[in-house]
Amino acid sequence: MFADTVKLVDKGKKRIEWAGVSMPVVRSIAERWEKEKPLEGRRIAACLHVTTETANLAITLKTGGASVALCASNPLSTQDDVVAALNEVYQIPTYAKRGEDAESYYKNIETVLWTRPEITMDDGADLVATLHTKHRELIPGVVAGTEETTTGVIRLRAMERDGALAYPIVAINEAMTKHMFDNRYGTGQSTLDGIIRATNRLIAGSTVVVAGYGWCGRGVASRAHGFGARVIVVEVDPIRALEAAMDGHSVMTMDQAAPLGDIFITVTGDIKAIDRRHIEKMKDGAILANSGHFNVELDLPGLEAMTVERRQVRENVEEFVIRAPGERKRIYVVAEGRLVNLAAAEGHPAAVMDMSFANQALVCEWLSQKKPALEKKVYSVPEDIDRLVARMKLESLGMAVEKLSEEQHHYLTSWESGTR
Ligand code: ADE
Repeated sequence: MFADTVKLVDKGKKRIEWAGVSMPVVRSIAERWEKEKPLEGRRIAACLHVTTETANLAITLKTGGASVALCASNPLSTQDDVVAALNEVYQIPTYAKRGEDAESYYKNIETVLWTRPEITMDDGADLVATLHTKHRELIPGVVAGTEETTTGVIRLRAMERDGALAYPIVAINEAMTKHMFDNRYGTGQSTLDGIIRATNRLIAGSTVVVAGYGWCGRGVASRAHGFGARVIVVEVDPIRALEAAMDGHSVMTMDQAAPLGDIFITVTGDIKAIDRRHIEKMKDGAILANSGHFNVELDLPGLEAMTVERRQVRENVEEFVIRAPGERKRIYVVAEGRLVNLAAAEGHPAAVMDMSFANQALVCEWLSQKKPALEKKVYSVPEDIDRLVARMKLESLGMAVEKLSEEQHHYLTSWESGTR
């Protein structure tokens, strides 16, 4: 190995170990699996963000007896030191490179598919879509799959509706121990982390516009508020918009917010949450970032069409000089509009991925051991797995849950007692 590769491998190994320290639930699953080997002989193809946390999951799956092949679920989220360590230290074949082009990204997905997986593990549904469109010959060998994220679940539900889904998939995102924590606290912290690392701008006193008030939007808005920003929420659902208002944020349309914002963050899962018409109205120096799965939330082609000059001004920040009606102004796009938390920072912290990936691991075990009779549908994580993950996490934090007394249990399960 060349000296540079040795250094990269060593860096990746140390960072994987560092993340592992904050993943006690996944670790305790690995300890049990070391003896039980519930995934013995299973072939798993995983298309996930290649981070230190994912490495800990992949190592755990291997400890459980699976053979795992990994590729990236986004071209800009890959951590190259992790790829090097997974390949060289942990002997987990990993096909990904930060900044790879679309051709290489999809080629790596296909390489992973050629391992003829029995279980697919996806984040955004690109692997499943590739399998269903280009490699249907592999479908009979697939028992089931898992999907990590909101965007992927939406795509898979559309496939189910169209009768296109060819095997069952468990939506990890729907576990409460996933979305309530990963999407809220994970996206909240790592999105601000990415924007701050990329721009080094002061958040206090600035106006942050958050598009979307799902679990991710709630987290981003709350963390921006915590940093001292004035937060404006743009949301299409009246109930969520009302919740944002009662959480203390201003609520308005993007047309109204466009001239007010200093930093714009999209987490809607939909296309063009910020489009050309909005960008035209923005202040000189406005910063645009996306933390949704795909880079379609910002109308980048629209921005490019208005652009008269563009240049890279910092790592992960590109300046677009646009000619809006009557003026020239600068608009800054962070990390090419790709998920800013993974492209400009390191993704969600390990302590929160611990719960998401514990769900992934335990669902794989459930699929392999219990062999549930599932149809070609999208399923939720079984409730007992979800609750077990919560209990294990609490235990790792040294916290206990209260128990109902018999009298309390009786009160809650009867109807006779009322006003006394
Ligand atoms: N998604 C968001 N953060 C992540 C992380 N740290 N690892 C894997 N997937 C992620």
